[in-house]
Amino acid sequence: MSAVTARAHPNIALIKYWGKKDEELILPVAGSLSLTLDAFATTTSVELREGLAEDRLELDGLVRDGEQLARVSAFLDHVRSLAGASGRAVVRSVNEAPTAAGLASSASGFAALAMAASAAYGLDLDARGLSRLARRGSGSAARSLVDGVAVWHAGTDDESSYAEAVPAPPMGMVIATVDGGPKAVSSREAMRRTVQTSPYFSAWVSSTEDYLERMVTACRAGDFTTIGQLTEAHALRMHALIASTEPPIRYLRPRSVEVFDAVAGLREDGVEAWATADAGPNVAVLVQPQGAAETAARLAAIVGVDQVRVVGAGPGAHLLPEGCEVP
Ligand code: DP6
Repeated sequence: MSAVTARAHPNIALIKYWGKKDEELILPVAGSLSLTLDAFATTTSVELREGLAEDRLELDGLVRDGEQLARVSAFLDHVRSLAGASGRAVVRSVNEAPTAAGLASSASGFAALAMAASAAYGLDLDARGLSRLARRGSGSAARSLVDGVAVWHAGTDDESSYAEAVPAPPMGMVIATVDGGPKAVSSREAMRRTVQTSPYFSAWVSSTEDYLERMVTACRAGDFTTIGQLTEAHALRMHALIASTEPPIRYLRPRSVEVFDAVAGLREDGVEAWATADAGPNVAVLVQPQGAAETAARLAAIVGVDQVRVVGAGPGAHLLPEGCEVP
C-alpha cells in the first residue's frame, strides 16, 4: 500500500493547558486556547506493511525505538482498535523546527500522525473526531488540527473534549530562542507533579476557566489588548504554579525573564507586544502584524537570545496529495 502523508504545525497556547483529570483519555482539568503557527511544521507518512511484526518509526532520518516508538505504537493501537485493523505500519516523520532550539513539538507530531494514520487505516473522521484522536497522543495536539486560533473544550469525557476554531483579530508571534540546555523534567511528568503536589492547584483550575471565558470574548471582539494582557498574565500564573510543586520545577531562565522585561519595555514605547512561554526557556511574543519587525529587532539585540523568528497564524493539520512523501 502506498503511504499517506500529512503536515501539521505547532501551536502556542495563550491560555495554557496544565494538568489532566484523566491520564489515559488525556482529559484536561480546564479548557485552553492557542494560535497555530505557520512555521516549524512536521510532515509524517504512514504506510501499512504486510507481514511487519512491529511498527517502525523513523524520526528525522533515524530509526527510533524505546519510549519514542512505544508512544507512537500505543497511539497506532488506538487507531487500529477504532478501525478494527491489526496491520503494523511504518511511520516516517520530519520536523522543520531546529531540534536544538527546543521548538520541535509533540503537538505538530501527533496532529500530523492522527491525520495520516486515520487516513491510512481508513477511518472516516470529521474535524471533531480528528481533534479528539490527536488529543490521545498529546493533549496540545488536539489544537493543531485547527487553523489559527483554537479553543480546546475541556469536556467531561472522550466525546466532549476537542478543539475548534474561534474568530480572532490578525496576530502573529516573535519567537525568541534562549539557550537553556536540555529540559530537566518533561511537561507530562511536571504536569503530574503539579496535580499531585501544588497547594495552588484548585485556584489554577478556577482561574483558568475564568481567563478562558474572557479570552474567547476578547478574541470574538477583536480586542487585541485584552488578548495580550490575558496571555501574559496566564503564562506567568502557569510558571508560578509550576514553581510551587514539590520538589519545585523552574523552566524560565534568567534570559527568558529578560525577554519578558524587554517586552514590557516595548509596550512602554507604544508597541503592543505580550510575552508567553511553555514548559521551557524560550519566549513567544504575541504581536499584531504591524508590531512584528520592531519586536524582532528589539529582542535580537538581547545578549543570550540565540535566534529570533517572526511567525504568523498557520493552517490546521492536513493531508498532502498522493505522491508527496516525507523526503
Ligand atoms: C506548557 O500537550 O505536551 O505547552 O498531553 O502530556 O502530551 P501531554 O502534554 P503537552 O503539554 C503542553 C503544555 C504546554 C501548554 C499548552 O500547550 O497549552
